[in-house]
Amino acid sequence: MVLAAHPNPTAPVLSHFSLEGKTALVTGGSRGIGLEVVRGLLEAGASVGFTYSSTTPDEIAALTQALSSENGGRRGLPRGQAAAHVMKARNKTRGSIIFTASVSGILVNVPQTQAAYNASKAGLIHLAKSLAVEWTDFARVNCVSPGFIATEMLDVHPKAWRDKWFSMIPGARLCLAPELKGSYVYLASDASSYMTGANLVVDGGYTLP
Ligand SMILES: NC(=O)c1ccc[n+]([C@@H]2O[C@H](COP(=O)([O-])OP(=O)(O)OC[C@H]3O[C@@H](n4cnc5c(N)ncnc54)[C@H](OP(=O)(O)O)[C@@H]3O)[C@@H](O)[C@H]2O)c1
Repeated sequence: MVLAAHPNPTAPVLSHFSLEGKTALVTGGSRGIGLEVVRGLLEAGASVGFTYSSTTPDEIAALTQALSSENGGRRGLPRGQAAAHVMKARNKTRGSIIFTASVSGILVNVPQTQAAYNASKAGLIHLAKSLAVEWTDFARVNCVSPGFIATEMLDVHPKAWRDKWFSMIPGARLCLAPELKGSYVYLASDASSYMTGANLVVDGGYTLP
């Protein structure tokens, strides 16, 4: 098992982040963090498909049109496919799989009780490590673990909880979803060609104290 080498490591550094000619699939790409990941991958040059759940066909049509005008005709298309099978089938493909875990996979959030969520995110981080070893031949597997990101998922929680969380962030503010897209482009691209099994924590310092 050999981890694929960078195709041109001495090239200027910004070219390492280019996703020209690459194909990406984002699960849950119709809003929140996933939508900004779709945007980031498109902006870096990839062709991007994404999955969604409750978004209506009209909303999806408007979204793909907006993504197309933002990216010179390159569109994010709603679709699904088992990505790892495709990567494996294409011998010597330098695939990159990125799981969205959470700081909840590292610590126990308070004041809420959410053992199942925390355990699932911890499991995801270890799944990434395990697959990074088992799939070395055809894909790198890494995680991004966001802290508190301003999306609809956060809005549904009681204000008292949110006030408590915000008081615990050394960075003293929420992260905007577009602030995450650079991390995903980095992990998707050759800029991180020797990184696999890692968990990139993006949390304004939340997990540090
Ligand atoms: N927001 C945070 O502070 C935060 C922090 C740490 C980790 N995370 C993690 O980041 C990820 C995204 O969170 P978010 O805040 O961006 O959530 P969000 O705004 O609620 O977006 C969720 C996305 O997932 C899609 N989705 C939901 N159920 C699905 C299903 N069964 N099949 C396919 N797509 C489905 C939704 O599609 P529809 O719009 O069509 O329903 C939507 O595109 C989650 O794994 C979350 O645990 C979030």
